Amino acid sequence: MAEDLLIITGTKQERYDSIVIQIQGLLDGETDLIANIANVSAALHEQFAWLWTGFYIVKNGVLVLGPFQGPVACTRISKGRGVCGTSWETQKTILVPDVEKFPGHISCNSRSRSEIVVPVLKNGEVVAVLDVDSEHLDQFDDIDKQYLERIVDLINF
Ligand code: SME
Repeated sequence: MAEDLLIITGTKQERYDSIVIQIQGLLDGETDLIANIANVSAALHEQFAWLWTGFYIVKNGVLVLGPFQGPVACTRISKGRGVCGTSWETQKTILVPDVEKFPGHISCNSRSRSEIVVPVLKNGEVVAVLDVDSEHLDQFDDIDKQYLERIVDLINF
């Protein structure tokens, strides 16, 4: 049925521009971190129909699964391990066009083909990462990097 079809329109920039406004509205006036990152995950996930969209939070020296949308995922990731742990260690956004070509990639879901991980920095330290997975190869580029870095900057960690 036509109503069941998910239709995504507009350029990637236009879709990000509209979601940035929505996210600013969602964050405005709410101080609870879990509520905020839960809504950021949901807003992004709905807008782009990615496979998995969510946060891992640094707790006691390990990345622990936080609010997300998508299939169940690995709960704990050490520093330097996988794409998330590498982003944490290097404090850099990591674009992975083909997860099978990333040494040490942690496969939480066999449908994931490409990935982007954005570190969240507070006072020069990584406090969390935003992780996004796609079922398609080579889904993320510099536009995603710029917007997702801007979006995590909007959140008061
Ligand atoms: N692929 C990630 C693990 C997290 S899941 O993709 C949700 C990694 O290699 O760190």
